Amino acid sequence: MPSSPPPPLRCPLCGEQLTVRPLAGEGSRPALVCGAGHSFDAARQGYYNLLVGKGTVFEADSADMVAARFNFLDAGHYRPLAEAVAAAVAARVSAGTPFTVLDSGTGTGHYLRVVLDDVRRVSDDVTAVALDISKFALRRAARLNPEAVNLACDVWQPLPVADAAVDVVTVIFAPRNASEFARILRPDGRLVVVTPRPGHLASLAALAGMLSIEDQKDARLAESLAPYFLPESARDVDIRLVLTPREMADLAYMGPAGHHLDREALAAKLDTREPDSEVNALFRLTVFRPARRPE
Ligand SMILES: C[S@@+](CC[C@H](N)C(=O)[O-])C[C@H]1O[C@@H](n2cnc3c(N)ncnc32)[C@H](O)[C@@H]1O
Ligand SMILES: [Zn+2]
Repeated sequence: MPSSPPPPLRCPLCGEQLTVRPLAGEGSRPALVCGAGHSFDAARQGYYNLLVGKGTVFEADSADMVAARFNFLDAGHYRPLAEAVAAAVAARVSAGTPFTVLDSGTGTGHYLRVVLDDVRRVSDDVTAVALDISKFALRRAARLNPEAVNLACDVWQPLPVADAAVDVVTVIFAPRNASEFARILRPDGRLVVVTPRPGHLASLAALAGMLSIEDQKDARLAESLAPYFLPESARDVDIRLVLTPREMADLAYMGPAGHHLDREALAAKLDTREPDSEVNALFRLTVFRPARRPE
C-alpha cells in the first residue's frame, strides 16, 4: 500500500494534485485521482501507469532481462553498493521530520528496498516514490516495495511530482533529467547518482563481446547535470565478484547489452570456461546539491 502521508504527486494531464483513492469495495483497485476527475487505476501488480501521450521511443528491458537483474541483485552481489546508496540517503534524514525519497529508473526496486530499510531506522515518516518506464520492472518493484508509490512514467517527460517536494532523488544506472530533478527537489535536497567507472566488468565485457563501459568522466557527469546541480561529494565502491557461469550470464544479460545478447548462447559459451570467473565491478557514487535555480 502507498505510504502515508500522501505522496506529492501531480496529474500528468492537468497538473493538479493527485491523491490516492483507496479501495472502494471488494474487487476494486486503488487509484490516483485529481480534482479535475482524471483517474489512474493501479495495475493488478500494484503500480500506477502515468504514461500519457506518445513519450520517448524506447526499447524497454524485456521480462527476461528484468528477471536476470532481479536474480543477480537478489543474490546480494552488489550489496556494498546498495549499502553505500542507503548510507548517502540516510545521512539526509532527521528523526521526527517527514522525509521523501524518489528513485528514478528504479528497475526491480532493489536499491530502494535497502534505502527504505535504512531510513526507517531513523524515521518512520517516510514517503517513497519510484519511477520506471518498464512495466516488467515495475511489477517486481511494486512487489518488493509495496509501501512506495510505483509509477510507470518517462523520465524525459515532465515528472508527475510537485515542485520542491522531494528530499533525495536517487538515480542508479538510469537516465538523468537534470531540470526535472532540480524542480522536484527541495532547495536543500540532494541528488545521489551511481555510475560505472572505466574498467567496470571489463573481463566480462571481453568474454561476452559487450561494449566496454563508456568512460563516464566526472567532468562529463557534472556537465550533464549543469547548470542545475553541483557535485558535493563522491566515493568509489569497488566489488570483486567471483561468479558462476550462470551468474556471469545474468550479469551480462541484465545490462544494456541484454538487448543484443542471446542469453542461452552466452551461458553455453561461458560454461566452457573455468567454473568460477573473477570480475571487478567499479562504481562511483556522487552526491549533488542543487545549484541556485536559473532565473
Ligand atoms: C540499467 S537499469 C537500472 C535499474 C535500477 N536502478 C538498478 O540499478 O537495478 C535502467 C533503468 O532505467 C529505466 N529507464 C530507461 N529509460 C527510462 C525512461 N526514459 N524513463 C524512465 N525509466 C527509464 C529502465 O527501464 C531500467 O529499469
Ligand atoms: Zn488531472
